[in-house]
Amino acid sequence: MDLKQYIADIKDFPKSGIIFRDVTPILDDPACMMQVVESLSRFVMESKATKIIAPEARGFFFGIPVAMNCKIGFAPVRKPGKLPRKTISQSYQLEYGEDSLEIHEDAILPGEKVVIIDDLLATGGTVEAMIQMVERMQASVVGVACVIELDDLKGRDRFHEIPFFSLVHYQ
Ligand code: PRP
Ligand code: ADE
Repeated sequence: MDLKQYIADIKDFPKSGIIFRDVTPILDDPACMMQVVESLSRFVMESKATKIIAPEARGFFFGIPVAMNCKIGFAPVRKPGKLPRKTISQSYQLEYGEDSLEIHEDAILPGEKVVIIDDLLATGGTVEAMIQMVERMQASVVGVACVIELDDLKGRDRFHEIPFFSLVHYQ
């Protein structure tokens, strides 16, 4: 299966100069989705993870089915003010300015082995913030897996000490 056939390329979205890599055709094809979930699951099982976390919104597309397939728990990481119970918050730098992400403070226990799943790795800022969040919770990130990696942005360099897996590359 050529996974790139299931990724739509949208020029100049959300702004001029960006080619948006849209994974929604994968979700619309159960056989393709099954293959993607199986590939990500193999990486998760090899890492011996006890929990998966993923950032809203597109990380949820893959994080939840992979957690179910691996029979381990899942915890959502969300933009500020969305989670209803007590949270831990992590801020991170954007190209211009700052943003932050939150997770329920009891979602990860000390000593847990966490895998981060997302649809796409770009600058790595989102993943880096999630790694910092997990480490502040006295747990460790044993792997990061994404469907798409944008090679030129070198997001991988931000966490080279952690095993990483991606299914397709674009420049
Ligand atoms: C996108 C994507 C990743 C992140 C990658 O999410 O789904 O989570 O950006 O970028 P980075 O590697 O430079 O941090 P976005 O923040 O656009 O949110 P969405 O999934 O809700 O669209
Ligand atoms: N997030 C950051 N860059 C992206 C891109 N080119 N396509 C889809 N999501 C993105």
